[in-house]
Amino acid sequence: MSALFSPFRLKDVTLRNRIAVPPMCQYSADEGVTNSWHWAHYPGMARGGAGLVIVEATAVSPEGRITPACTGLWNDAQAEGMARIAASIKAAGAVAGIQIAHAGRKASANRPWEGDDHIPAGDPRGWQPIAPSAIAFGANLPRVPRAMTLDDIARVKADFVAAAMRARDAGFEWLELHFAHGYLAQSFFSVHSNARDDQYGGDLAGRSRFLLETLAAVRAVWPERLPLTARFGVIEYDGRDEETLAESIELTRHFREGGLDLLNVSVGFSIPDAHIPWGPAFLAPVSERVRNEAQLPVASSWGVDAPRVAERVIAQQQMDLVMIGRAHLADPHYPYRAAQYLKIDRPSWILPAQYAYWLERYHMAEL
Ligand SMILES: Cc1cc2nc3c(=O)[nH]c(=O)nc-3n(C[C@H](O)[C@H](O)[C@H](O)COP(=O)(O)O)c2cc1C
Repeated sequence: MSALFSPFRLKDVTLRNRIAVPPMCQYSADEGVTNSWHWAHYPGMARGGAGLVIVEATAVSPEGRITPACTGLWNDAQAEGMARIAASIKAAGAVAGIQIAHAGRKASANRPWEGDDHIPAGDPRGWQPIAPSAIAFGANLPRVPRAMTLDDIARVKADFVAAAMRARDAGFEWLELHFAHGYLAQSFFSVHSNARDDQYGGDLAGRSRFLLETLAAVRAVWPERLPLTARFGVIEYDGRDEETLAESIELTRHFREGGLDLLNVSVGFSIPDAHIPWGPAFLAPVSERVRNEAQLPVASSWGVDAPRVAERVIAQQQMDLVMIGRAHLADPHYPYRAAQYLKIDRPSWILPAQYAYWLERYHMAEL
């Protein structure tokens, strides 16, 4: 019996296996609206057998986009395209998820393959980023954000709620709040980017407030029967990791009490010069600790794509789900290939019936 290919149930949703396609920005939208690229890409990701496909970081407002080409969910035209994507993911047998996001001080950037840096101030393609404090990320993203007022904070929370309702109405059954990677929510939590002296800064309670209030507001509109999840950077690799991890685990307990169903454990990416110990499954011990100490199901990613590694981290209960990103870009049939590699009985049946029937016959040399 494979742990990786066992079903996973969360609330009223059952994934056919423990493999998820994590959110991966395509930087290909027009005014936040999806097009033929996305309509081909997403069902492609679902066809290969993954249990869950999460649509890329989708901005809750125009200023919340990382680049001008990021997807959005602040108007009906955007929601219409997303409904088409959700339906196509489901048609391929996967559960359709979406990550909703605000890029904070990392907003208004060029696409990765066009520089991956801030669009200069004054360039009409860009806009003024906002953040908890007027502190720039640095390196390739030097632009100093405008510190948010209390009105800004209330508006962004309302934008998250509106986007969550659009995601719900578009047919998504799994919502992921993007609280990671140095974007807006993570930058409220991080001591590197939050120097506020009001109720949204300071101690752990202050730096957690924006995240917990956003979760509570979204929880109120997201159906109780469907998973509500978040991606959060629990560690920075900045030399104060024990302290950050202890605070992150404390916050994760509050997330659980606030109705979060699963945490997608990631890295904070709040500073440009972190010493991240890249390597196969380097986050597995971290996600295991969060899972055990916060008593919440976890997913994680970053180099867990070798099938034996993916199988092991699930079997050893270091993760409940593996998020397989770049390996899916290289081979959208990654789950099928992994099933073959792990010598799963009848690997074809990982795939939708339209493909599985023929591949099974082929293996049986009946054609
Ligand atoms: C092209 C690309 C776009 C990404 N966009 C997002 C994103 O929208 N949201 C997010 O949380 N992570 C994003 N990531 C990170 C992935 O979700 C994933 O965590 C990362 O690729 C590590 O997993 P892997 O080693 O299996 O590729 C992106 C990664 C890639 C390669």
